[in-house]
Amino acid sequence: MKTITIDYIKNLKNNSEPFSTITAYDYISAQIIDEAGLPLILVGDSASMMVYGYNTTIPISIDEMLILVKAVSKGALNALIVADMPFLSYQPSIEETIKNAGRLIKEGNANAVKLEGGKHMYENINSLVNIGIPVMGHVGLTPQSYNQMSGYKIQGKTDEGAHQIIEDAIAVEEAGAFSIVLECIPEQLAKQITKKLKIPTIGIGSGSFCDGQIQVFHDVVGLQKNKPPKHAMVGGNLYNKTLQIIKDYKNKIKKL
Ligand code: KIV
Repeated sequence: MKTITIDYIKNLKNNSEPFSTITAYDYISAQIIDEAGLPLILVGDSASMMVYGYNTTIPISIDEMLILVKAVSKGALNALIVADMPFLSYQPSIEETIKNAGRLIKEGNANAVKLEGGKHMYENINSLVNIGIPVMGHVGLTPQSYNQMSGYKIQGKTDEGAHQIIEDAIAVEEAGAFSIVLECIPEQLAKQITKKLKIPTIGIGSGSFCDGQIQVFHDVVGLQKNKPPKHAMVGGNLYNKTLQIIKDYKNKIKKL
């Protein structure tokens, strides 16, 4: 049994302990993150770009997600594993929501799921929680709505937009979610929501006042050719290091 539980994550807020979380999409990175002692891993639908090479998070399917969730679950024996529900795996109906979240838990061995949206996702979140599936919410910039949002932009900059995000975050908490991602909203708005909610807020591009922070693995270790987003907390350049190692290998073989 894992020592990191939903209650453990909730208590991090109660004890005012800022915590770090990160995405993972495979067995080895899950092992590394687990060994580093991070309490929570998200198998994010950012795998759509980081693993499958699509342009946005929209194309990835539940079957493509499941393969990755299974691998991460085998690598992370301590960290709580949250699996992202991909676009159209929960929006169509409550039945679809339960069926697909159930697959991520039952076949993928995830401990919880994450889905995007606020007030309009109340029923979906509540139905999952009622059958024993913990849910992480996600409001602010919701990348599955890329087209509707006309691109990736900071959300909640106007009074009306900020009010909407506060209402969404409250609805997510009231629906029974155990935590919530606040993506790309102004720092003061994130601070206000963090104060208002009892569940932990996990920020990305939303300043330093959230209870926890989340980052994309490939951004942190510098494992992608493309320029990472502004809010990425880049800690190295594994892309260039790996490139050099592979070149050295190529050259070694030439000299045999
Ligand atoms: O898929 C993902 O990586 C995410 C994080 C950015 C929160 O949803």
